[in-house]
Amino acid sequence: MRLITIDNLTVDYATTGGVVRALDGVDFDASAGERIAIVGESGSGKSTIGSAIGSLLPATARYASGHIEVDGCSVLELPGRELRQLRRDVLGYIPQDPIATLDPTKRIGKQLKFVVGGLGGDSSPAALGDLLERVRIRDPERVLRRFPHELSGGMAQRVAVALAIARREVLQLIFDFADEAGATVIWLSHDLEAVAKWCERVVVMYRGRVVEDGLAATVLTTPKHPYTQSLLDALPSRLDRNVEVRTYTQRIRIGEITEQET
Ligand SMILES: Nc1ncnc2c1ncn2[C@@H]1O[C@H](COP(=O)(O)OP(=O)(O)O)[C@@H](O)[C@H]1O
Ligand SMILES: [Mg+2]
Repeated sequence: MRLITIDNLTVDYATTGGVVRALDGVDFDASAGERIAIVGESGSGKSTIGSAIGSLLPATARYASGHIEVDGCSVLELPGRELRQLRRDVLGYIPQDPIATLDPTKRIGKQLKFVVGGLGGDSSPAALGDLLERVRIRDPERVLRRFPHELSGGMAQRVAVALAIARREVLQLIFDFADEAGATVIWLSHDLEAVAKWCERVVVMYRGRVVEDGLAATVLTTPKHPYTQSLLDALPSRLDRNVEVRTYTQRIRIGEITEQET
């Protein structure tokens, strides 16, 4: 079942410096239960697509062309009340894509809380303490109050591992939930490794256009577009793409969750 259809969408933003074309003739579709990643460098138009699906673009945005259909409704023409109902009933947005590295300006506890809580996981002090104990940190309460520079190198490394674990587990929660609910997931991401693991389809954006759209197992191993190749080249070499990608080609479901990076 087709859940979302975007047809030839062009979006401009009015700025003090003039008009910025954010999307330039985008075609996109999502079927019930699909797990789709939209990837592409910062500014390529990922968030604009995500927001446009819920007709949630700011007033400075202009839909210069195109049509967006969600669950059979033409969202750009839908009266306010019905639009709000559609957002409530069909769409769900998850607004963070926290990065699993230590920020020198914030206490460890605050950073863990941001990563775990930002994605909807249990970020209570007890849960964060448990997380640190799993990477063999003996006095988690003390470490949670520290800034990164107040930790030894080895300790900081363990905390970084804990952050990565937390992030992975929360992703697991989201995708498990989507699976149970039969939800479609459209994930706006920079993290190709995680995308390879969680999504069966990848859409690559470049300067407001879709430059590639296909099975993750294909796009991430044998990209057709030079831009996709350059995205993959930027990945750490430890990723064994062939193995990672094939292991996780997954089946499909409905609804929708979008994770936006900031
Ligand atoms: N509110 C806005 N006002 C003006 N320009 C914007 C706004 N939001 C995004 N843009 C511009 O639109 C383009 C696409 O941005 P965006 O959709 O945020 O890309 P991404 O999510 O891939 O980083 C960029 O050139 C960006 O600067
Ligand atoms: Mg964005």
